Amino acid sequence: MVQIIPASIAHVPLLAALQNASFPDDPWPESAFAPLLAPPTGLGLLADHETPIGFALARVIVDEAEIISLGVIPTARRHGYARVILRALIGECQRHGAGNLFLEVAARNEPAKALYRAEGFCAVGKRRGYYQNGDDAVLMRRSIARTELQRCTQ
Ligand SMILES: CC(C)(COP(=O)(O)OP(=O)(O)OC[C@H]1O[C@@H](n2cnc3c(N)ncnc32)[C@H](O)[C@@H]1OP(=O)(O)O)[C@@H](O)C(=O)NCCC(=O)NCCS
Repeated sequence: MVQIIPASIAHVPLLAALQNASFPDDPWPESAFAPLLAPPTGLGLLADHETPIGFALARVIVDEAEIISLGVIPTARRHGYARVILRALIGECQRHGAGNLFLEVAARNEPAKALYRAEGFCAVGKRRGYYQNGDDAVLMRRSIARTELQRCTQ
């Protein structure tokens, strides 16, 4: 069974390895991760299935949260791990008081868009040329308020 644990500063090298295995075209330096974990806004999760297989990073500011990154290593994909990680991340964001969760995803990243749609996120905007390679991003949002029903209008 997959285990989800909170990521701490001690996990920075592992987070960097997982991030860069998940996004080989856009490697991040280890120095990028400590600020992303810094309280009170930073949140990180690690997923382990005998070995580390995935991670998620989010930022919570008052009642809004944003997914900074989420990935599963290529050899562990299509086993439902991203769904488990995403649900755990939503729970953490709720615990930190967020009622809305936002993310940007590359317009051409069909697996990720399918994951987020399947988990109740709706496209709410487009950011043209958002990525360094010129790709557009889709802005997606999901209410994570505990009392609200999820409704997507598109
Ligand atoms: C996107 C990503 C996180 C999905 O991880 P995963 O563990 O393979 O996803 P899951 O097995 O949990 O899939 C959950 C749902 O997502 C969707 N999905 C995931 N991969 C898909 C694919 N290749 N094609 C179509 N749908 C896909 C499906 O709806 C799937 O549900 P189903 O298996 O019941 O059909 C993974 O491909 C990845 O790390 N990609 C590179 C990094 C990235 O793009 N991160 C997200 C942007 S922040």
